Amino acid sequence: MLSSLQLVVALAALAAVPLALTHPSDLRAISSRQTSLPSSNHCGDYDYVILTGTPWIVYNMLYNADLTVGTQCTYYNHVITAADGTQEVVWSSTANIKYIESTNNVPKGYSFVGLTQNLETPISDISAIPATYDWTRTNTSTFKGNVCFDFMTSDTKGDSTSTAAQELMLWLQYEGGQLPIGWGNGTTATIDSLFGTSWKLYEGLNEKTGIMVRSLLPEVQFDGSFTGDLKDWLEAMVTLGRFKNSTYVNVGNAGTEFFYGDSVLKATLGLQINKF
Ligand SMILES: *[C@@H]1O[C@H](CO)[C@@H](O)[C@H](O)[C@H]1NC(C)=O
Ligand SMILES: *[C@@H]1O[C@H](CO)[C@@H](O)[C@H](O)[C@H]1NC(C)=O
Ligand SMILES: *[C@@H]1O[C@H](CO)[C@@H](O)[C@H](O)[C@H]1NC(C)=O
Repeated sequence: MLSSLQLVVALAALAAVPLALTHPSDLRAISSRQTSLPSSNHCGDYDYVILTGTPWIVYNMLYNADLTVGTQCTYYNHVITAADGTQEVVWSSTANIKYIESTNNVPKGYSFVGLTQNLETPISDISAIPATYDWTRTNTSTFKGNVCFDFMTSDTKGDSTSTAAQELMLWLQYEGGQLPIGWGNGTTATIDSLFGTSWKLYEGLNEKTGIMVRSLLPEVQFDGSFTGDLKDWLEAMVTLGRFKNSTYVNVGNAGTEFFYGDSVLKATLGLQINKF
C-alpha cells in the first residue's frame, strides 16, 4: 500500500522520540512514578503523549494528511493497573474522514499505542510479548480500515529505515476491502495454527523505501478481542525463514489504520516486551 512508506518513516521518527526524551537518569524517575497523567486528545499529525510510568506512547499519525478531508483524533483516557501489576491503557480513535473516489485506496494514517521500553532487543533475548487487545468499533458510515499490530525488525539494532529493516503486520480485523501490500502476488506462506486460527502471509516491497512488508491475515477475523504472546508470531516468522532469532525487534505497536469513514474505535490494550 501507498501508506507504508510514510508509516515506516513515521515509525522511525517515533522510535527516536522516547530515546531522545529519556536519558538514563530520567528513566529511573519515570519508571518509579505512577501514571497519573490527565486524559488528552491528539488530533494533529505526529501528535502524541508519552505515558510516563508505562511502556507506552499514544500517537496520532496522519501520514497522508494532505489527502485527508476531515478529522482524525487519538484519545488517551487512562491506565489501569491490575492486581498483579500488569498495566493496560484505555484509549480511542475517532475518524471522520470523507470518502473520495481518487484516494479511497490510500490509508490516511495510523492511530496507535507504541512501545517505548525493551525495544532494540534480539528475539532470542525476549521471553514473551504478552498482549491483550480489546476493542469495539462503532461506525455511522461505511468504514475502511483495520485493527492490527505493527512491528519492525532488522538484523541491525535500532534500524527501522534501511532496506534491511522489515515491517511486520498482524491484522486482527479489517473491513471495507482493505488489502495488504503484495496482495497481487497472492499468499506466499500459510501458518496453520497461531492464536487460535490459521493465517495467510502476504509480502511485498514498499516501493519507495525498499522495505519489505510482511502481513499476516487471519482465516477467522478477531471480533473485538485478542489475547496472545506476540513472541509466537515472531518465532513463526523465524520458522518460515524470514529472519533469525538474533534479529532485533526495533519498533512495536498496536493500533488502527484508517482510509475513510465516520468511526469510533474504543480500545483497551496491554502490551509489553519481557526480556529474559
Ligand atoms: C460500517 O462499516 C462497514 C464496513 O465498511 C459497513 O459494512 C457497515 O455498513 C458500516 N455501518 C454503518 C452503520 O454504516
Ligand atoms: C510481485 O512481486 C514482484 C517481485 O517478486 C514485484 O516486483 C511486484 O511488484 C509484485 N506485484 C504485486 C502486485 O505485489
Ligand atoms: C529460534 O528460537 C526458538 C526458541 O528458542 C527455537 O525453538 C527455534 O528452534 C529457533 N530457530 C532457529 C531457526 O534457530
